[in-house]
Amino acid sequence: MNIDNRIKDIANLIPKCHSIADIGTDHAYLPIYLMQNYICEIAYACDVANGPLNVAKKNIAKYNLNNKIIPILSNGLNNVPIVDVVIMAGMGGQLIIDILKNNSKKYQTFILQPNNNIDTLRKYLCTNNYAIIDEVVSNVNKKYYEILVVINQKQNLTSKEITYGPINLIKKSPNFINKWVKILIQYCTILDNFRGSKQEYQRIIDKIDEIREILQ
Ligand SMILES: C[S@@+](CC[C@H](N)C(=O)[O-])C[C@H]1O[C@@H](n2cnc3c(N)ncnc32)[C@H](O)[C@@H]1O
Repeated sequence: MNIDNRIKDIANLIPKCHSIADIGTDHAYLPIYLMQNYICEIAYACDVANGPLNVAKKNIAKYNLNNKIIPILSNGLNNVPIVDVVIMAGMGGQLIIDILKNNSKKYQTFILQPNNNIDTLRKYLCTNNYAIIDEVVSNVNKKYYEILVVINQKQNLTSKEITYGPINLIKKSPNFINKWVKILIQYCTILDNFRGSKQEYQRIIDKIDEIREILQ
């Protein structure tokens, strides 16, 4: 199985446990990898669409895991039993929020890897009594993916923590630094060819200053 760093980094954040549910499982690579590495005993591979779920079923059978990984057709958490850890990866941040809005408070721990809108997701979490207890930035071919470990608990975040991540700001991992250096360079390039308003120019200067500050 061709498992990239993103899936390995997600798996490394999952504590050894009895059960997990992978929402939007698609090919079921994550639950298969978890089983192969003895991270959990039972996994639910869940997807809203029959196409991906059929691919998941084929892969589960190919790796002889029919008695360990149970495929479930489910929109979000609707048909998902109580598990120790819920994973939502490779989806838009807004879709993750929409799924969390429906029935998520009965689960204790979530691993969330949004493909976009990470700040919108962090803002939603901190205004809805979820706490981010760990963060990792994963790197696949210089594309950076943020992974959050979230529990049901109150947490207040500053606007800087919402943008950059409360744990990222403490850890300042090499991938986190490289991600923001890449964004800093993009802002500097925009400034070099800038034709917009004075206000917009100032907004970019302020952003560059903010990124420089967090990189220190
Ligand atoms: C891009 S794939 C991500 C696959 C895998 N989780 C990963 O990280 O590589 C997104 C999957 O989410 C599924 N999906 C989209 N909306 C969903 C929902 N509301 N509930 C469950 N699955 C959903 C899609 O059918 C698709 O298979």
